[in-house]
Amino acid sequence: MPDAPLPFDLNTARADWDAAADAYADAQATGLDVYRLALFGPAQVTLCGDVRGLRLLDVGCGTGYFAREMAQRGALVTGIDLSPVMLAHAERLEAAAPLGIRYLTGDVARCHEQFPPASFDLATACLSLQDMPDIMGAFAAVQHALRPGGRLVMSIAHPCSDTPFRRWAKDASGTKQWLCIDRYFDRGPIRYHWKGWKYDFSTAAQHATLEDWLGWAFAAGFTLRALREPLPSEVAVLTHPELADAARIPYFLLLDLMRGG
Ligand SMILES: C[S@@+](CC[C@H](N)C(=O)[O-])C[C@H]1O[C@@H](n2cnc3c(N)ncnc32)[C@H](O)[C@@H]1O
Repeated sequence: MPDAPLPFDLNTARADWDAAADAYADAQATGLDVYRLALFGPAQVTLCGDVRGLRLLDVGCGTGYFAREMAQRGALVTGIDLSPVMLAHAERLEAAAPLGIRYLTGDVARCHEQFPPASFDLATACLSLQDMPDIMGAFAAVQHALRPGGRLVMSIAHPCSDTPFRRWAKDASGTKQWLCIDRYFDRGPIRYHWKGWKYDFSTAAQHATLEDWLGWAFAAGFTLRALREPLPSEVAVLTHPELADAARIPYFLLLDLMRGG
């Protein structure tokens, strides 16, 4: 549950994700992270399309979940992340089952200093941009790293449903009736407490409006190719009943953006 605004800078983000890394990696390895594995992850893979042979930069790659999805489909993947502990998990997975992924430590907002212009055909950001202190800087740096016509395919928590105030109203039996959201226009960092799984950790992320997100992308020189609000299939909900909420309310937003010439 989100609570009060807080200072948010690179040191905070790095420390948060270093501390969260073991639990985060475990949730993926054990299948607890169902929304990722059965909802937004496959939807983002689909939106990327055929990635064979593409030079791909996965920004905020964390433990390498999306980098590995892309490498398994034939992309030539570089992953970059701020958190050395998240990256240590990514390197461990790479060592155990090599896919030729190159992992680098760094701030995405400065990645234009790490790569020559137009180094990549495709950039991906799987639930990472909102965790970055300088989102506008990240869009600009990724734009610089992409070739003209290259794409950025990104996912974020849906800005219209993941608001600073967000709570399911329940009836007497505990059944969810409706999602109460408020303070949509309260922009800025929010601290999230990850207590839904068996772990207990917290990280910060920025809340911004839908208009902000698209405005930042356009200001950096991207155009919008596609927008997706993935929802789980009936089969997925039967298999994972906890996904039922996301068949009522859009939990995630995916954007397919293209760098202008
Ligand atoms: C929610 S995790 C997502 C990780 C991965 N993409 C995934 O889907 O599992 C967000 C990641 O963004 C990284 N991050 C936050 N700010 C960053 C920055 N400025 N530059 C690079 N990575 C950053 C964090 O270290 C963390 O690994």
